[in-house]
Amino acid sequence: MQIGVFIPIGNNGWLISETSPQYKPTFELNKIVTQTAERHGLDFVLSMIKLRGFGGKTEFWDHNLESFTLMAGLAAVTTKIKLFATAATLVVPPAIAARMASTIDSISGGRFGLNVITGWQKPEYSQMGVWPGDEYFGRRYEYLSEYVQILRELWETGVSDRKSEFFQMDDCRLSPRPQADMKIICAGQSAAGMAFSAQYADYNFCFGKGFNTPTAFAPTAAKLAEAAAKTGRNVTSFALFMIIADETDEAARAKWELYKSGADQDALKWLVDQSNVDKSSGADTNVKQMIEPTSAVNINMGTLVGSYETVATLLDEVSTVPGCEGVLLTFDDFIKGVDEFGTRIQPLMKSRAGIAAPAPELAAV
Ligand SMILES: Cc1cc2nc3c(=O)[nH]c(=O)nc-3n(C[C@H](O)[C@H](O)[C@H](O)COP(=O)(O)O)c2cc1C
Repeated sequence: MQIGVFIPIGNNGWLISETSPQYKPTFELNKIVTQTAERHGLDFVLSMIKLRGFGGKTEFWDHNLESFTLMAGLAAVTTKIKLFATAATLVVPPAIAARMASTIDSISGGRFGLNVITGWQKPEYSQMGVWPGDEYFGRRYEYLSEYVQILRELWETGVSDRKSEFFQMDDCRLSPRPQADMKIICAGQSAAGMAFSAQYADYNFCFGKGFNTPTAFAPTAAKLAEAAAKTGRNVTSFALFMIIADETDEAARAKWELYKSGADQDALKWLVDQSNVDKSSGADTNVKQMIEPTSAVNINMGTLVGSYETVATLLDEVSTVPGCEGVLLTFDDFIKGVDEFGTRIQPLMKSRAGIAAPAPELAAV
């Protein structure tokens, strides 16, 4: 099973809480996290793009670095780990995204790929006057399909002449082209999002679900497999989980209870308001799932809480879900969390057997 880290490009990572670790995103923080992940043999890191935060007492995600430029910096200070940036496709023309990807491909020696998003939070875009109107919610994957076809043409042939409703390419050129086959991630979970992934992406990322229920996302992975069967392409699922680990189950659970008790209600209210703006999608989208009261404090991503042994067992169970090729992990404390994952959890995982432990002299951070 592949392991990736959803690196903390925004403040406080993915805990919307006053009682979780409070920190701002910096290059230094993300460098340490990424280099630690690389040292422990993890497969990839991904950074999101978020252009406006949720506010509240914790100023949740009001502080965010930019995804491509962060990954370019990380490409220069790593050698093995794969790197994915996220393209805010409404504001970055495809020819520019294709060229930035070629550039990071060059910096990284072929270790770069792209997560493409349509954008679900209107204020991120209306604040700069580029929101296309609310009807965009219902057509966003049509837009993304045209966008990605241009990316693929430019990467594969160096030219795009594609003319469509949303884009007018006119002998548009790209050189240098990427040296590696550029992989595309999409994290759509609606029917339209999954149909998009099945047609154009290499991987579909979805939320893991629930508390210590590692296989609860299986129906989502099955939906993707169904969509991919229709297109005949090989597209696999990756599930997003937060890891909260400690020496004992009790100590880990105490941290989780503490974080939940400090949920930043004002920031959460903003999220609820935003998720209700899109009237076009059904209840099956990640956006709607994020606000369920059960675990809104970490936007209801799947949460795996326990001793290092417990978490290793739970992750091995994740790997048994058909169609699941890997996980994307977040942590309450990223630096400590990624290091403990490498030293305490990964060595206990059957699904990671054969991943070499770091040499002792490199093991210390
Ligand atoms: C792992 C993961 C990464 C995501 N990254 C971003 C991101 O960087 N920016 C963003 O606006 N949305 C992001 N999303 C939201 C998705 O792109 C998507 O809009 C959401 O999952 C809802 O699915 P739907 O668009 O099919 O309704 C992410 C979701 C997941 C699960």
